[in-house]
Amino acid sequence: MNKRLLCISLLIISCIIIFSQCVGKRSKEEEDLRGRQFAGSAACISCHKNIYDSYVTTGHYKTSSPASRASVKGSFVSPHNVFSYSNGTKVIMEARDSGLFQVALSDSTLEELHRFDISIGSGRKAQTFLSWQNGKYFQLPLSYFISAHSWANSPGFPPSYPKFDRMIPGTCFGCHSSAVGIKNVSMEGLQLSEEFEKNQLVYGIDCERCHGPAAEHVAFHKDHPQEKNAMHITKIGALKNQQKLDMCALCHSGLGTPQRSAFDFKPGDNLSDYFFPDFTRPEKTAEMDVHGKQYQLFTASKCFIKSEEMNCSSCHNPHSNERDQLQAFSQRCMNCHKTEDHTFCKMTALPAAMLSKNCIDCHMPALASRSITMLTNGQTSPTPDSMRTHLIAIYREETRKFMATLKQ
Ligand code: HEC
Ligand code: HEC
Ligand code: HEC
Ligand code: HEC
Ligand code: HEC
Ligand code: HEC
Ligand code: HEC
Repeated sequence: MNKRLLCISLLIISCIIIFSQCVGKRSKEEEDLRGRQFAGSAACISCHKNIYDSYVTTGHYKTSSPASRASVKGSFVSPHNVFSYSNGTKVIMEARDSGLFQVALSDSTLEELHRFDISIGSGRKAQTFLSWQNGKYFQLPLSYFISAHSWANSPGFPPSYPKFDRMIPGTCFGCHSSAVGIKNVSMEGLQLSEEFEKNQLVYGIDCERCHGPAAEHVAFHKDHPQEKNAMHITKIGALKNQQKLDMCALCHSGLGTPQRSAFDFKPGDNLSDYFFPDFTRPEKTAEMDVHGKQYQLFTASKCFIKSEEMNCSSCHNPHSNERDQLQAFSQRCMNCHKTEDHTFCKMTALPAAMLSKNCIDCHMPALASRSITMLTNGQTSPTPDSMRTHLIAIYREETRKFMATLKQ
């Protein structure tokens, strides 16, 4: 129990340090919420148009946005816009002239009415919604579950009644946005209380979230159009493999106890300077949830352990949306797994030409998440979301399922 106490104290201390930094740095006159050293993605278009045009199609770019009919994927049309709780309360998603709302009714009496202000999640798997009230963000009780095409009780929320008072911490924005304005931080008992600035948010994960502040780079290259060598920007190619991994692990290794604000991270920084060592949960990979833990699962895989320089970019292009292009991903597996080197698949039940089209469903199957589960209308037990595991291995059961779908 000492460990837990120590962990809680560390969390509190680190949050205070982080937020006092955030508060200190902001000044309203600066153009970018993050300060003059940041240029914003729009400033990159003139010289990196191809990358920019491709990047705006990614889940990263769209992972947070102001809530609107265009960004919210769920239906506002009856009967699809109603969710009933077991205590008899109904929540109705309403599109009014003044905005989008979640309205709770008990026997047709209005109990609560809250506006959708921010959408979190690009609409790949799920979206949750935040409502702004007196300097705080609250998560709305209903989320949208893409695979079920349905509104669902937000993950971890009580099934019996609509909960409107779940406060959202700044860490949420640390992984789902590029900056958030924080006005004030205080302690309410043992709980950290953050006050946010209204409408002060850099939505999505932008270029400088991954590449670091780039205003100087922009200014230099505008003044020196003949210079073809990148100046005043970190060259990712020159980083060590672990530093490349850390750039992604910042958000893809789950939420540890923060030591510094995730917003301060620049390429080349070490992840270990941002989180306290995780001594409370020495999880085994087999028990690790597929949600959010891509870094741990991938680095526990034989592919990674037995290769010299493998990182997320061995398979992912960070500027493109390559979702569901399983053949293209399989091609990347075959950069290393070749028939001529005898490192190809050892499965003999299918010809190589067939195997080559889709290594993924057998070796990185989509598995059920334990932490992200959704209760849709009328269900009694929640449905888990499923995600690709990054523990690249031999899955005999998934292979059997894959073979069965081929036979059909
Ligand atoms: C006025 C032109 C110009 C603008 C605007 C500009 N860049 Fe560049 N950038 C360059 C040039 C020239 C290079 C070097 C050639 C190349 O890699 O395309 C470069 C290279 C880069 C590199 C690669 C570094 C390396 O070698 O690994 C990154 C990353 C980068 N820019 C990020 C940005 C970001 C982010 C923005 C917007 C905030 C931006 N640039 C805006 C001109 C520009
Ligand atoms: C600032 C936090 C952050 C960083 C840094 C980050 N990601 Fe992500 N990533 C996210 C979030 C949040 C999502 C979910 C996006 C959504 O809403 O669909 C995501 C989604 C993804 C997806 C799924 C996208 C899809 O369309 O299927 C891939 C792949 C991915 N990230 C890879 C990477 C790689 C590779 C890096 C490092 C180069 C990286 N991420 C760095 C936060 C981050
Ligand atoms: C999720 C993190 C992430 C985001 C967001 C991101 N990049 Fe990159 N970028 C990377 C990584 C990682 C590399 C190195 C890729 C590699 O090693 O193959 C890279 C490489 C580059 C390069 C040099 C190599 C090349 O492909 O030409 C440029 C230029 C660049 N990025 C510009 C941008 C611009 C401009 C944006 C925004 C429009 C942006 N990046 C958004 C992670 C990111
Ligand atoms: C440590 C980083 C981190 C934090 C903190 C975090 N998330 Fe995420 N979240 C991710 C990543 C990475 C993904 C996508 C990959 C995955 O699910 O494994 C994601 C996915 C999601 C999705 C589904 C989007 C999609 O379609 O993939 C929603 C909704 C979401 N998060 C909401 C939240 C909310 C609300 C909070 C704050 C209470 C939060 N997240 C905190 C990293 C984070
Ligand atoms: C950078 C090179 C590289 C890439 C890319 C790569 N692998 Fe590997 N993989 C390896 C190495 C090296 C091993 C270890 C082989 C050994 O045991 O000698 C390995 C091992 C494996 C194993 C055996 C795992 C076990 O637990 O026995 C499987 C299965 C596998 N890879 C599948 C894949 C798939 C599928 C992809 C693409 C999604 C992929 N690999 C991409 C290098 C790579
Ligand atoms: C060996 C290849 C490979 C490597 C290395 C790899 N990935 Fe992936 N990743 C994939 C494939 C294949 C998918 C499935 C794509 C699809 O179904 O659209 C995927 C999917 C994802 C998703 C979406 C998962 C989901 O089901 O929603 C995220 C997030 C992601 N990768 C992040 C990362 C991060 C972060 C790293 C580095 C720590 C990484 N990946 C390394 C192959 C790889
Ligand atoms: C239909 C499912 C399926 C597909 C598709 C598939 N594999 Fe396999 N793979 C397996 C199974 C099952 C084994 C274990 C074979 C055995 O030992 O009996 C295996 C073994 C392997 C191994 C060898 C591990 C060892 O023991 O050394 C590698 C590497 C591998 N696969 C890579 C790939 C790559 C790369 C692709 C895509 C080109 C691929 N696999 C496509 C099911 C599949």
